[in-house]
Amino acid sequence: MIVEAVRRLNNGELVAFPTETVYGLGADASNDLAIQKIYAAKGRPNDHPLIVHLAAPMTLLADPKTTTDVLADAWLKTVSPWVRDLPPAAMQLILAFWPGPLTLVLKKDKCVLDVITGGQSTVAIRSPNHPLAQALLMEFGRALVAPSANRFGKVSPTRAADVHAEFGNDSDILVLDGGDCEFGIESTIVDLSATDGIRLLRPGMITPSNIYAKTGLQIDTFNSSQQETEVPRVSGSLKAHYAPNTPLQLYQSDNWQTILHEFDTQIAKQNHVRKLRIALGIWGSITGLPTVAPNIALSGIQLETFTLPSDHVGFANSLYRTLRDLDLQHYDIILLPEPPAGEVWDGVRDRLQRAAFGSGPSSANQVSN
Ligand code: TXA
Ligand code: MG
Repeated sequence: MIVEAVRRLNNGELVAFPTETVYGLGADASNDLAIQKIYAAKGRPNDHPLIVHLAAPMTLLADPKTTTDVLADAWLKTVSPWVRDLPPAAMQLILAFWPGPLTLVLKKDKCVLDVITGGQSTVAIRSPNHPLAQALLMEFGRALVAPSANRFGKVSPTRAADVHAEFGNDSDILVLDGGDCEFGIESTIVDLSATDGIRLLRPGMITPSNIYAKTGLQIDTFNSSQQETEVPRVSGSLKAHYAPNTPLQLYQSDNWQTILHEFDTQIAKQNHVRKLRIALGIWGSITGLPTVAPNIALSGIQLETFTLPSDHVGFANSLYRTLRDLDLQHYDIILLPEPPAGEVWDGVRDRLQRAAFGSGPSSANQVSN
């Protein structure tokens, strides 16, 4: 399968592959026409930049005798065709987290194609921590650009079947099946291109505290309300993103009861002929967060409940899968709990809020492009 994937990439075709975060839709990072196919397949505006995926020095990493200097040298060789210079902080991050779910935005080398960066002066790079992704990068021998393998604004895929569901009719796309993605939400993105500090552009499973603990580097957390008014440098920063077709509403702590009653009252007023089908996600009890068992009679509602992992790792892992599976069941409404406060939940809170904002049939929201 990898041989066929490499043949296709060399031929300027797209190949979807698994990473530890979500599935990516890959193209040869040196082939302008191939990269344009990504924008067309996703329906993504072409000023939205892509992440360059790089092979890791796996043999050196596997050898316990490899020194940090040797490793740093190998990484430098890998990244230098892409970046104008590599600040010491970037190398610290690479040594601490690569291969892994951390994307670095740096000043780009002049050779990087505009179709990758959307004409910006920076480039985003990462080395994914998935054996199949690394095998593909190694066999291909060059870098791959790869956005998440979903149509623009929709839920990212975390299984090979999800990618097939997104691009079903487009038989040109080969999908490498690497099973379920480990993390389930996209990589953390940090911007090192400014001189006055490192900014968090997209929260993910690697948090600013994780970065501080491993490297001593302080990350400026981004003010997302500020971001909305800027040109969307990060497409995931659009207010509506990662969105299911079924309307999704978030509830705070236990107020799902109030929300259900409100729906029930509305239904009664409108003399609906059929019941409203609502999927209600409630916390599992793993970490002692409140678990509720709905036990209320609502005449206008057909309620189906399911439990969600109440630890952030499990929740992130199943988030997109859950949204996709629920979407297929054509509920009228999906109700999910707001994640608790705390930095470890920032990644999933960000995705959930955007998913809720953009949810509903395409014609009814702003991500129909
Ligand atoms: O986990 C991930 O990062 C996945 C897997 C497949 O690697 N990829 C991913 O790609 O999430 P995508 O295209 O869905 O999101 C990449 C984000 C976009 O929001 C893009 O705007 C941002 O990275 N990005 C890329 N280059 C950038 C740059 N030069 N400056 C700022 N943001 C950039
Ligand atoms: Mg994406």
